[in-house]
Parts: sequence; C-alpha cells; structure tokens
Amino acid sequence: MDSEGDGVMSAVEILMVGRMPALVERQLRERFTLVTGADTSDVALSRVRGVASGAHAPVGPELLQRLPALEIVANFGVGYDSVDVACCAEGGIVVTNTPDVLTEEVADTALGLLLMTARELSASERWLRAGRWARDGAYPLTRTTLRGRTLGILGLGRIGKAIARRAEAFGLTVMYHGRHRQEDVAYPYFETLEGLAGACDTLMVVAPGGAETRHLIDAKILKALGPEGIVINIGRGTVIDEAALIEALKAGTILAAGLDVFEHEPRVPQALIDMDNVVLLPHVGSASQHTRDGMGQLVVDNLASWFGEGRPLTPVPETPVPQTPVTVTGPS
Ligand code: 8YV
Repeated sequence: MDSEGDGVMSAVEILMVGRMPALVERQLRERFTLVTGADTSDVALSRVRGVASGAHAPVGPELLQRLPALEIVANFGVGYDSVDVACCAEGGIVVTNTPDVLTEEVADTALGLLLMTARELSASERWLRAGRWARDGAYPLTRTTLRGRTLGILGLGRIGKAIARRAEAFGLTVMYHGRHRQEDVAYPYFETLEGLAGACDTLMVVAPGGAETRHLIDAKILKALGPEGIVINIGRGTVIDEAALIEALKAGTILAAGLDVFEHEPRVPQALIDMDNVVLLPHVGSASQHTRDGMGQLVVDNLASWFGEGRPLTPVPETPVPQTPVTVTGPS
C-alpha cells in the first residue's frame, strides 16, 4: 500500500455497511469518497478500497468477492465475528477492530448487570412502579447476594481484566479460564472451563464470538456451576447454548442469569422474557454516546492511517500485516 496525502485520500472510495455513529459518516464524507448502501452496483463496488463495517453487518465471501480492489476492513466493535477474517487474510486484506476505547464502559455494564441479577434490582423496581410497595409492602428479600461469591471469568482479555479489577473492589474472589494462562495476573487459572465452573458460583462470559467459542457453555458446564450459580454474558450470545440455559434456569440447575447478548439478536426467546430469575439488556455493553463515538473515531482513524501512512492502528491478530503496536488513547 502506498502512502497517500490527504488530497489524494479524498479520491479513495470507502463503502460503509451497517449502522455507525453520525461522526463516522460525516468524517468519511469529508476525508474520502463515501459509497453507501444506496449505490452497490458492481461498477461502484469494483473501485472500493476500504470498508467501514458497522454493528454486526456481515462482511463475508459474498460481499468480499464483489470488492476486487479492497485493502482494509475497519470494523466498528472490538468483536469482529461478523467479518470473515480468514477470507480477508487470504486476499491480503487488513482487518481492524476497536479495542481499548470501550474496555471500561463494557466492564461497568458487566458489574451493573451482575448487581442487577444477584440483587433483583429490575424486579424490585418493577415492584415499586406497579404500586406494590404501598399496596403489598416491602419487596421480598433477595434469594442471593454478592457477598461471599466467587467470580469465574471466561476470557481474561482487556475487558475481562477490567471486570476482575472491579470485582476485587466489590470483595469477590476472582479466578479465570481462557486459551492461555495470563502472566501478568495472580488470579487462579483453570485449564478447563468445566474446572472453572465447578470451582466458582458466578460465571462471567467475556469470550468473543465465532466458531471456536460456539456453545462453550452447555448443559454440562451449567450443571458444574450448580444451583447457586449465576451466569452473566457480556461477550457474545453464541458462546452460550441458549436452549440449554433456558432449561437450566427452569429446572433450577442454576439460580439466575444476566444477559446483554443473545444467540439470534435482536430476537430474544420468549421463555427468557417470561422468567423472573433473568435480567435482559438489549446489547448495551458499550452503548454510551461517549464510548460509541470513541469507537467510531477509531474506525475513521484506522482508515486514515492506512491510506495516509500505510499502517493500520489496531489490526486484529489474524490480519496479514506486521504487528506494530500503537497506543490508542481513547475515552476512558
Ligand atoms: C457493540 C460489541 O455493541 O464491540 C463489540 O464487540 O459487542 C459492542 O461494543 C457492537 O460492536 C456494535 O453495535
């Protein structure tokens, strides 16, 4: 890739797919030639050199084969399971994501969801709003508490570590499982997920999506977690076998669940909606204006850095470029 000055960059055609914060579209229009969903003829697509891919818009072989001049896919989100990275790598196409800028926000949401679930905060708020406090008296004492709980984290990456730091401040014991032991933390590491589930009573899912992690949490893991068990999912819905989770919640195999992500978003099974022992959020882990703008800016900056200086700022590990670490200072 030859570096191009800002003037030349304005001729570079960028295709935007999926939903993005307004600042992305505005800046892409100012700095590049923006192609949107409205003009997707083969002729228009044949000139596209960069893709800005928004909220879970699939970037797979079907789209990629229509983009012969493509050099880079800048994904909006730290998770990039909607982008076929293997197919991109084969074609020498760089893929970037948006790490760091959302870490603290997602960790905040994870702790909020855990508190809501253990202390039934949304159910008790519904009690008040329905007039039951005045009519029926105090909300019943919650079956469980965070006191004395042991938090097992599945996926101790940047977000997992930010959650672990918060959990420690809440007095929880922290342990984890992931592909590798992390050298920079002292939390106990479990070689297997089943081992972790057997040792903790609160399972925090922070793992990314994709084929490798699909249904890692199944009936066997839920059984190992046990009848006092709480599952929180802030990672990807596909990591949990949703049908097995519903069964486990119904049967009392585990106690409760707090879910920000689902297998088939935005569809949420009615069985979950009907249950009292679950808290359901509509995938809002990173969804503040502040953090989404930070993520959007990083999408634009990755494209500008690639077409201006010939290097992406935050390439994903599978991408076919030398890994030059760049420190991103985003909102925190
Ligand atoms: C966003 C996310 O909701 O970054 C991710 O992987 O799941 C979320 O922060 C998503 O990327 C865009 O909607």
